[in-house]
Amino acid sequence: MMRLAERMMRMAGSPTMKVTAAVDRLRRSGVEVIDFGAGEPDFDTPEPIKAAAHQALRAGFTRYTPVGGAIELRQAIAARYEADYGIDLGDAEVMATAGGKQALYNAALALFGPGDEVIVHAPAWPSIPEQVRLAEATPVLVPGDPSDGFAIRASALLERITPRTRGIVINSPCNPTGALIAEAELAAVADEAARRGIWIVLDLCYEKLIYDAVAHNLPRVLADRCRDRMALCGSASKAYAMTGWRCGWLLGPAPLIAACSAIQSHATSNVSSITQQAVIAALTGPQDAVTRMLAEYRVRRDSLHDWLAAEPRLRCRRPAGAFYMFVDVRGVLAGLGLTTSAELADALLERARVAVTPGEAFEAPGFIRLSYATSMTVLREGSARLLEFVASGVPAA
Ligand SMILES: Cc1ncc(COP(=O)(O)O)c(C=O)c1O
Repeated sequence: MMRLAERMMRMAGSPTMKVTAAVDRLRRSGVEVIDFGAGEPDFDTPEPIKAAAHQALRAGFTRYTPVGGAIELRQAIAARYEADYGIDLGDAEVMATAGGKQALYNAALALFGPGDEVIVHAPAWPSIPEQVRLAEATPVLVPGDPSDGFAIRASALLERITPRTRGIVINSPCNPTGALIAEAELAAVADEAARRGIWIVLDLCYEKLIYDAVAHNLPRVLADRCRDRMALCGSASKAYAMTGWRCGWLLGPAPLIAACSAIQSHATSNVSSITQQAVIAALTGPQDAVTRMLAEYRVRRDSLHDWLAAEPRLRCRRPAGAFYMFVDVRGVLAGLGLTTSAELADALLERARVAVTPGEAFEAPGFIRLSYATSMTVLREGSARLLEFVASGVPAA
């Protein structure tokens, strides 16, 4: 057997991307599949953003830039956060990364190491604990309570602090649950973290996708309480339908940004120069495309929720943010002769041709994640197939 580095014994590829690969395989072999697996907007990138990329090419903006991005991009990111949250960041406190994923990874490598524990709320997006492991630290998963909608609670996180705790990672809105952390809960976490010198890594990749007018000024909460121990990770991917362009950002104290720039300088260097110009247009231009996409996601969320409500043994809540429905399937497994949500996901793909992501991918067995970043037609057909499949397991009356 080929011998790889020891760390490969401890890690696996992204389970969410595995679903995408399975859908691709089936489609290439001519099978029509309803895809509820995709973790990305189905919308095209808005035209003004694309136009800025064309303009960058025409102007020959095609060379290396500073590792953390052109100064215009870093200032555009800072200006967006100032406008949205009232926080004031200098140039040395901002860097651009190849997606929010690289922002989180840079932060994990810069902050965590062997012997460190990092608290992560679950269900969790798989790359969060995996990146902690890649940094040779230990993720400490804190399960949420399904009956509480998996709300992210300070008390549950703080209970798990030990002398080894180096960081707490918070993802709000959360993938896969769509749950938010309340400002007061984050404030309680931040006060304790500041007292103990623990870092808070905040994954804000879905920050623009919140359906109701709830207070969610998390950057301000951290900037006020633990500015020298915060790492804010954001992204153009979901907000501006730019997943393929690969641009995110990391905001934090200058020494952290300098460390992360050093790491990135040996890994990928700068984000594509053309993408950088497109993201400047996205951040500084009118934000109406974001509002339009959010309105469309809201209609889809409500429709999908109402359709699934026809089957009371499937339990799901209307998510507060992001574009995923996290459905409790524990009530239907036995009737279908299945024992796990992973088996259900396989059976749905094989027999109903519906791709979903099993809760096992998020450390939450017993659930499946449906992405509603897809058209109403697809949502209607997919939920009809799902309901029919589930009904097929109901014993005849
Ligand atoms: C919770 C969460 N954080 C971060 C990301 C990173 O996305 P990107 O690297 O495209 O910005 C994702 C993408 O699915 C995500 O779901």
